[in-house]
Amino acid sequence: MIPYWLLSCLLYLSISSPKLSEAKQKATVLITGGGGYIGSHTIAEMLDDKYSVVVIDNLSNCYAFNDTEKPESLKRVEMLTKKKVIFHNTDIRDSSGLNKLFKSYKFAAVIHFAALKSVSESVRKPVEYYENNVAGTNSLIQAMKNNNVKKLIYSSSATVYGSPQYLPLTEKHPTGQNITNPYGKSKYFTEEILKDLSYSDNEWKIILLRYFNPVGAHPSGLIGEDPTDIPNNLMPYLSQVAIGRRNHLDVFGSDYPTPDGTGIRDFIHITDLAIGHLRALEKLTNPAFKGCRAYNLGTGKGYSVLELVKAFERVSGRRINYKLTERRKGDLAIVYADPKLAEKELNWIAKRYIDQMCEDTWRWQRQNPNGYQSDQDEP
Ligand code: NAD
Ligand code: UFG
Repeated sequence: MIPYWLLSCLLYLSISSPKLSEAKQKATVLITGGGGYIGSHTIAEMLDDKYSVVVIDNLSNCYAFNDTEKPESLKRVEMLTKKKVIFHNTDIRDSSGLNKLFKSYKFAAVIHFAALKSVSESVRKPVEYYENNVAGTNSLIQAMKNNNVKKLIYSSSATVYGSPQYLPLTEKHPTGQNITNPYGKSKYFTEEILKDLSYSDNEWKIILLRYFNPVGAHPSGLIGEDPTDIPNNLMPYLSQVAIGRRNHLDVFGSDYPTPDGTGIRDFIHITDLAIGHLRALEKLTNPAFKGCRAYNLGTGKGYSVLELVKAFERVSGRRINYKLTERRKGDLAIVYADPKLAEKELNWIAKRYIDQMCEDTWRWQRQNPNGYQSDQDEP
């Protein structure tokens, strides 16, 4: 039987508009961690925009049939875009592997997604997080330097702001204070290393993209977020409750100083986030751009946990069982971005709002009830 996701791929391709294949191909970009959630969606947008990509990933958090095959997410991106993705199973800490790669291709820039990202795991395994995220980035920038590739986009996070001193969060808000876990600190330390690097050598051009809360999936339903374990984050947990993989959602805290007592976050659609990387690439390759600059990628609007639950129920037509429980340690009450700097300097603005985030997540979840390993029809 043909899997449901493959049928929907064929349908999506048949109704999506034909591509202007004659337009000139753009530069080749090295993508680290491109098999993962944000990387795969960004690659889909980049291929559509005529960039070529070479992807490295160590498969620690994305599904591949075996060690020698490219991640399933990237096979689906190839189907979706009808373009080829070159893939190497390489770790960012493998200096000799990286050097070989830099000698084999001519990269115009690097987009660096590869990192471990579980807040709770980072509390249990801090050394592994610093080793992978901080030392791993050092190894990458050393290889870039050795091979004279000095343009970098780094996946940072709103977590670098710690507990907000004011809202919305602008890029001028202090960073590095009151960060409650090693994952967040690894993002902050790496930002500091990259800033020092750009002060030390003015040939480096670096953009730090501080993501708020990425959610949603590609509108085709072919690629999406595929947690390999019990989801830590709200949206994947919520959608697994909706599909019946989990019994109920624990809502962590209902006594925050917010209108309904639950935490408020700036949820941003993954396609908007992916497009933010294209705008950042354009900025980076503009000769006028110098140094290291941080940009928030968020919508500027916060939604509470219960508002997201209600929106998901509305678009999915399913009732979400939830229980109000204790606050989760280290969580903040309200976090949302001021995205005006990205609008002004990157010409980027988030266009997709809460219902579309839920609709696209639900389509991905329905078509792939067990993520990329799924070969079942729609339940
Ligand atoms: P993800 O886990 O889905 O993707 C990361 C990818 O990197 C995975 O495929 C993993 O296998 C790979 N990887 C990890 N360590 C590696 C190593 N040493 N060498 C090579 N590959 C390695 O995560 P994501 O959600 O796509 O996040 C991408 C980036 O964005 C990360 O740097 C993350 O910290 C950052 N970020 C994510 C969020 C979020 O909510 N998803 C928010 C803020 C920032
Ligand atoms: N939440 C629940 N139940 C769950 C999961 C989450 O109620 O099962 C709540 C949290 O308490 C919080 C909100 O949903 O109020 C959002 O939680 P997430 O775990 O989805 O996201 P966080 O804001 O905690 O963190 C995310 C990423 C970090 C990133 C940060 C940037 O996980 O990597 O956004 O703002 F750094």
